[in-house]
Amino acid sequence: MDKTFTKMTVAGCLLAASVSVHAALDDKAALQLMNKAQCAACHTLDKKGVGPAYLEVAKKRKSEKDAVAMLVKKVREGGTGVYGPIPMPPNPKANISDDDIKLMVEWILSK
Ligand code: HEC
Repeated sequence: MDKTFTKMTVAGCLLAASVSVHAALDDKAALQLMNKAQCAACHTLDKKGVGPAYLEVAKKRKSEKDAVAMLVKKVREGGTGVYGPIPMPPNPKANISDDDIKLMVEWILSK
């Protein structure tokens, strides 16, 4: 009886912890991820660089249906022609995982 209770409590805590990790990315975590995956070489939050500012992306995409899925795919595969002639190169799995791309895209769209 006691053992079961302990197991359930531990499982509950683990679940709560993983949910909160994935629920949202704060600005600091997002910036760390951006540096690690080298997105920061081309993007900043509010200034156009090689790529568009994330605020510009958020403004354009926020109201679009399926924006998250579309942007995750575009970040993974790269693309061009929306913000100008410069292409975004593909971002390989070795640089950033699917989960991390999704977190970044959700963070961008929350801006
Ligand atoms: C070598 C430069 C470069 C790197 C590195 C880069 N991007 Fe981009 N990104 C671009 C350019 C250029 C565009 C604009 C493409 C277009 O006009 O369609 C873009 C567009 C985007 C968009 C908007 C796409 C749309 O159609 O609305 C998102 C979101 C984005 N990048 C996220 C990321 C993330 C996240 C990373 C890191 C994993 C990253 N980028 C790495 C250059 C880059």
